[in-house]
Amino acid sequence: MKYLLISIFLSHVVNADPTILSAQVLFRHGDRTPVTTVPSDPYQESFWGLPWGTLTTQGMQQHLINGLKLKARYVDELKLVNATYSPYDIHIRSALHDRCLQSAAADFAGFYSDSKFHPQGGGWPKNWTPLPIHTNTDPDHEFEPDAPCARAKQIENERLARPEYLNYEQQHIDIVQAFAKGTGEPWTKWWDIIQYAGTLVCENAHGLTLPSFVTPQLYNDTISIRSTIIDYTAGMAILQALQNPELIRLRAGVLIKTLTGLFRAYTDEKLYAYSVHDSTISATLYALGVTAKMDVIGAGQPGYAATLIFELWKMDDGSLAIKLLYANTAEEALKTVTSSIQGCAGKALCPLATVRGIMDQFVVQDIDKACQAQ
Ligand SMILES: *[C@@H]1O[C@H](CO)[C@@H](O)[C@H](O)[C@H]1NC(C)=O
Ligand SMILES: *[C@@H]1O[C@H](CO)[C@@H](O)[C@H](O)[C@H]1NC(C)=O
Repeated sequence: MKYLLISIFLSHVVNADPTILSAQVLFRHGDRTPVTTVPSDPYQESFWGLPWGTLTTQGMQQHLINGLKLKARYVDELKLVNATYSPYDIHIRSALHDRCLQSAAADFAGFYSDSKFHPQGGGWPKNWTPLPIHTNTDPDHEFEPDAPCARAKQIENERLARPEYLNYEQQHIDIVQAFAKGTGEPWTKWWDIIQYAGTLVCENAHGLTLPSFVTPQLYNDTISIRSTIIDYTAGMAILQALQNPELIRLRAGVLIKTLTGLFRAYTDEKLYAYSVHDSTISATLYALGVTAKMDVIGAGQPGYAATLIFELWKMDDGSLAIKLLYANTAEEALKTVTSSIQGCAGKALCPLATVRGIMDQFVVQDIDKACQAQ
């Protein structure tokens, strides 16, 4: 009898499947034109035929693909959301930039490509449902880690003045000098060339011929050093500096509050989407543990349409758990990266209490107060 009870109990544990309750999906916008460039660049705004920082048709395509990938998981496989759009199912939010708004629209054109809730005929575009996309007001501290914040600027400047950083900059000062010479700009510091390096990434993504001083080796070195400096100035533990929790809080704390606030059982929307920036995705990962960003993305920055997902699951014993997923591009498959969260090593589903234990310390209640210079 005792044996029977135990075996019934065991088979119950083994056979019960966890069920998904909700998903919060953060994605970076798709391919865009550069944000700006230098006068010596042959590829000015007129070359692109679009304003600076605008989503391109490639960017739209990437998000259509991404939306189809999300549909495969949440509509077809897990059946979290109905194929036909319902306002009860999802809630879409976006950063204020047009490229983020358009990326969200393109993504959900893919996600809802089997939706029936739209006019039939009458010239209506095939399989397209217009969706509400919500935004914050400016300044948007929730989705823009670089929103104006005096205290964050102070800490960033402190980090840029540290000997470890100055040494690193000095080791690679020849690249800054090559950029100054090649462009005719009065550049002397790495910080001066960060933005133009980002412009080169856009030009390279479009197969454009880069200026002759930008050799393939110089390009690769520049992109890799740029990424190190971006992680460093955002508060990550790198270049022999410790993680700076205050800076991470200032850059991500409002969003971390939103994300953790939605880790609860649902009666309403089951899928939350946030159309944001690479900096937003990195800032979120910094708040998942000292090595989380490196473990999930590596030394680089999130690619176009990079997607980070927090799924909330109910385990067979009724407890709640988080599954973290990531894909660096629209084409890449989502991979489970839960074990990159601090305290979740070796787990595909990590107890909610463990995840909150790490995330809650980064929640910001009053960002205006926290941003005051000290
Ligand atoms: C999905 O939505 C359609 C159309 O509103 C409805 O007929 C169907 O019952 C829904 N399916 C599920 C599983 O809720
Ligand atoms: C630059 O990086 C790319 C991508 O990692 C690699 O394929 C290429 O060989 C590198 N080129 C040089 C000159 O290091």
